[in-house]
Amino acid sequence: MDDSILDTIGSPLVEVDAPDGATIAAKIESQNPGGSAKDRAALWMIEAAERDGDLTADDTIVEPTSGNTGIGIAMVGAAKGYDVQIVMPASKSPERRSIMQAYGADLELVEGDISDAKDRADELEADRGYVQLRQFDNQSNPNSHYESTGPEILDQIGDREVHALVAGVGTGGTLTGVGRCLREEFPEIEIIAVEPEDSAVLSGEEPTGDSFQGMGPGFVSQNLDTELLDDIEVVSAHDAEAECRRLVSEEGVFVGQSSGGSNLAAKRVARRLVADGCTDPLVITVFWDSGERYVSTGMFDSE
Ligand SMILES: Cc1ncc(COP(=O)(O)O)c(C=O)c1O
Repeated sequence: MDDSILDTIGSPLVEVDAPDGATIAAKIESQNPGGSAKDRAALWMIEAAERDGDLTADDTIVEPTSGNTGIGIAMVGAAKGYDVQIVMPASKSPERRSIMQAYGADLELVEGDISDAKDRADELEADRGYVQLRQFDNQSNPNSHYESTGPEILDQIGDREVHALVAGVGTGGTLTGVGRCLREEFPEIEIIAVEPEDSAVLSGEEPTGDSFQGMGPGFVSQNLDTELLDDIEVVSAHDAEAECRRLVSEEGVFVGQSSGGSNLAAKRVARRLVADGCTDPLVITVFWDSGERYVSTGMFDSE
């Protein structure tokens, strides 16, 4: 028996369909207690702020988020007894709002994208003395993946070698933390970022849209260690959503847009590694959350 819901953070690593001659395994992060990878970052950031004396019992936490970090912070806040104020772009799915509110968080919606939500959170921090965790800059975000997601993967692969890590980027916390951990173990590993076609800032493009929830913030996050990157893969929301429909209906793996996009990119990389002569390459990717968080968007409705 666990003492707290917070002790149940962790997720399985599951093999998914891969091109002939390759293996792809995905971290199924919807299995975390708050339903996404961001539970890890939320817990690590909150506990670091507690240790540093920046967060004490009567404080209110404020954070700009496209959803999953907000849900993670709301979940940890509920378990630890903090008030939580979330600022989220109005464009993000209604499921996200209802879940945060169920955890007891207050929610403010802003027009615009995550940069507009960041500006509003800065105002609330300055005017009301709320404590902002700053997931885009806070080192505890990548550290959570360096200390938990990465070591879990090493444990789950047994004696296999990892040839590539292919994953989307929002704050960059997941790719940076997991990437640092895996590269220590496998110095030759390729680390490949995935970004939206309409927000391909890592590829040097101006953002023209905000089609993915959680991936492609429209700027290069401080928490993305670009030195780690060997390559960048670009995916469209249209193709990513089609891949989500295929994953759930053909493989029983119910995931959201960024996961579908990351899987498409993982398959491209796996195909290239096989073509380059690599024997049974193992490609690791991350599935951040469940497709249940996207049902209202209509993306799972039959075409
Ligand atoms: C659905 C989803 N996918 C991908 C990401 C990207 O993760 P990271 O912020 O660690 O780069 C997030 C982050 O919030 C997310 O919510």
